[in-house]
Amino acid sequence: MINKDFLTIDDFNTDDATVLVRVDLNSPMDPDGNILDDMRIRSHLITLKDLENSKVVLLAHQSRPGKNDFTTMRAHALRMSSYLGRTVKYVDDIFGSHARSSISSMRKGDVILLENVRFNSEEMLKRSASEHAQTHMVQQLSPLCDIFLNDAFAVSHRAQLSILGFTETLPSGAGRVMEKEVISLDKGIKGGGAPCIFVLGGAKVDDSLKVAENVLSNGNADRVLLTGIVGNVMLSASGVDIGKVNIDFIKSQGYIDLIENGKKLIDKFNGRIGLPMDAALNDNGNRIEVPVDELSKNDLPVYDIGLETIVKFTKEIENAKTVVLNGPAGVSEIDAFALGTHEIIRSAARSEFSIIGGGHISAEVINMGLENSFSHLSTGGGACIDYLAGEKLPGIEALKDAALRYKRSTH
Ligand code: 3PG
Repeated sequence: MINKDFLTIDDFNTDDATVLVRVDLNSPMDPDGNILDDMRIRSHLITLKDLENSKVVLLAHQSRPGKNDFTTMRAHALRMSSYLGRTVKYVDDIFGSHARSSISSMRKGDVILLENVRFNSEEMLKRSASEHAQTHMVQQLSPLCDIFLNDAFAVSHRAQLSILGFTETLPSGAGRVMEKEVISLDKGIKGGGAPCIFVLGGAKVDDSLKVAENVLSNGNADRVLLTGIVGNVMLSASGVDIGKVNIDFIKSQGYIDLIENGKKLIDKFNGRIGLPMDAALNDNGNRIEVPVDELSKNDLPVYDIGLETIVKFTKEIENAKTVVLNGPAGVSEIDAFALGTHEIIRSAARSEFSIIGGGHISAEVINMGLENSFSHLSTGGGACIDYLAGEKLPGIEALKDAALRYKRSTH
């Protein structure tokens, strides 16, 4: 056991045991249900390999209620089977009689993947571990399992049912992905030199603003550069008219109220937050570059940062000793709008210590063949930056509590 605060697979006898493993298989999917990037699915193979002699029950989620890619785990099971070389049986039930009988009839070496845990309306409620432990899901599944492993580092910043509930009812520890993340990110926090720059993009504006505030307050970052939708929200907060179409998009994502919050951040950390100076707009698939003060005149959606911003940001990144990238700078799945994301990745790859957080941007790094140029590719987006920001992740805290309970019960 490397981290003495929580238990790992090495602390349990997993042979013949029924091991319930919370994994994070949340992947970008197209409207036809095809998985566009399977980095997360591949990441858990190290854990499954170490559980070859167990009966493994996987719990996972795909997306969030209300989103287009909120769907079943069928495709994930198929993809995982192809990598594992063994069948990962998809069971279209979470804790009902079909799920329970499927678990009861498992044999050593079997792996099943239960249905999307977020189909259960209680999954996403933010509650304590002991409250989650009282739910039907935990009460129905726990008696059928011997050990719980949390391998879902990427969702361990959420106080959700399948992350916390079983740590109260079963001997619990970390899977190999969780273990690796904590070791590597700890190295990042302690080992990275100054200046340290966080480059935050993507669509999770609430998470990014929280992290920006934390790392600027606690000194973990000297500067924060903002791109993507969070960049637009902050441009608006700084007084730039970003145009109706971009404001409407922010509203549709439920982030409009964050503009007020953004204003306070800009006042508080004046000069330590870098915002785009120009943007690339999507005009029927064509890339049109405009300075940010011309956004309202064009009223077209921002799909990337512009060239001037790319030059300024990449220069800053190259001069940093530690760089943390989270979230793409634009709609990087469309070639014409991938430039900002790609150039930021290339410049970060040249810095001394670099961490990539977030599935989408990690996928880009892998596609660009730059995987080995980074100190660590985290499977986590929000979880990775929360961890680096010095926040306690509920999923990890629950594992620590479970370790204390386990040690007390075995001594
Ligand atoms: C992620 O993709 O970052 C994790 O799977 C968590 O997903 P969430 O932000 O929908 O909770």
